[in-house]
Amino acid sequence: MANVVIVGTQWGDEGKGKVVDLLTERSDLVIRFQGGNNAGHTLVVGDRKVILHLIPSGILHKEKLCVIGSGVVIDPEILLDEISALKTKGYDVSPESFAISDRAHVIMPYHKMIDHARDTTQRIGTTGRGIGPAYEDKARRTGIRMIDLINEDMLGRKIEAIFDEKQEYLTTILKVKGLNKEDLINKFKDMGAQLKPYVKDTSVILNEASKKGKNLLFEGAQGGNLDMDYGTYPYVTSSNTVAGQACVGTGIGPTMIDTVLGICKAYTTRVGEGPFPTELEDEIGERLRAFGGEYGSTTGRPRRCGWLDLVALKHSIRISSISYLAITKLDVLSGLDTIKVATAYKSNGSIIENMPADLCMHPDLGLVFDELPGWEENISDIREYDKLPENCKAYISYIEKKLGVDAAIVSVGPKREETIILKDLF
Ligand code: IMP
Repeated sequence: MANVVIVGTQWGDEGKGKVVDLLTERSDLVIRFQGGNNAGHTLVVGDRKVILHLIPSGILHKEKLCVIGSGVVIDPEILLDEISALKTKGYDVSPESFAISDRAHVIMPYHKMIDHARDTTQRIGTTGRGIGPAYEDKARRTGIRMIDLINEDMLGRKIEAIFDEKQEYLTTILKVKGLNKEDLINKFKDMGAQLKPYVKDTSVILNEASKKGKNLLFEGAQGGNLDMDYGTYPYVTSSNTVAGQACVGTGIGPTMIDTVLGICKAYTTRVGEGPFPTELEDEIGERLRAFGGEYGSTTGRPRRCGWLDLVALKHSIRISSISYLAITKLDVLSGLDTIKVATAYKSNGSIIENMPADLCMHPDLGLVFDELPGWEENISDIREYDKLPENCKAYISYIEKKLGVDAAIVSVGPKREETIILKDLF
């Protein structure tokens, strides 16, 4: 029996979805604990591509319970669309296979409108899904929770209480068109009724399942460097993306976590604004984007691409106490003569080895690089570690040694089978 947390170690889009999908085979429950539909997991099952934004990817497997924990913010419209799309494809999304925490907060239309309007002035490059404004209302204690959404009276009262203020803010401050209160209440009552069968006290479910010896897999979204406290603030998402949030965002305690698996792409990408020290704005960056299909699965935006950044990785490993790495998209590096890796930053003549809290304030930031030899061969058909090209193995060993963490999984392509497992985590 083991409970495993999966987190991204960079700025998101590390390939968590594929690894979660793989490990789901060995888990009984798959749980999301933060973020919302700003995430997007692309899974390739056979010849079919499935993109999920909210429901844990475990839903593609039979007889697993997928849970959305209290730390997630939920757009009910998107969730209902996702449920119906999965059902159309023949997947089981019933209250036996899917549960939503009664304490999770709801993303309301005004959250999305505020997110859009604000991002034109305070340019973060958000996904525009209303994530930040929904978490703001949660912290401000004016949020609407799933338990309220499924209770018609409570929902009406909660919307009544906040509506005028939101309307005023939208129309007077942001100067956008306001909302119709009755339409809003009716629409959300209807969606609440549809989602009601799934809404439960999921903390109880998870703790009981664990006591019975079930394997729990916690599926993180975004990455360590987008964490609200530890990321490149203010260019971060509005939730905690670190492994500790798996406890807070689901209602389990820290002693229940056995292993933290950090997903690390073999190079770095970032979408949206914010510092990205190893960014490549040249033909190598374009090559990584083209070969790696580096376009956001939520917004379709081209991702910024660059070399591996050990400063950012060490930071993530420390804040999430990562036990093992899954190194993904190694195949994308095939064909490069040499591969660079940033080992430290430089600023004002000093060497910076730990991620500074004020990274945004170092416009002159320099980099200290190691340069490793690349490999020519296409590695996507290789299933045994020993058969990888020598320089590819040397790159993996270099990362392991520099970070002091072993790789448990190496991914050499998007498909489930394009994977080399080095360590059994369950
Ligand atoms: P928000 O989460 O929509 O508020 O966006 C805040 C920042 O996090 C922006 O830079 C987004 O591009 C980034 N972000 C949010 N979700 C993801 C993700 O799933 N992958 C990568 N970046 C993300």
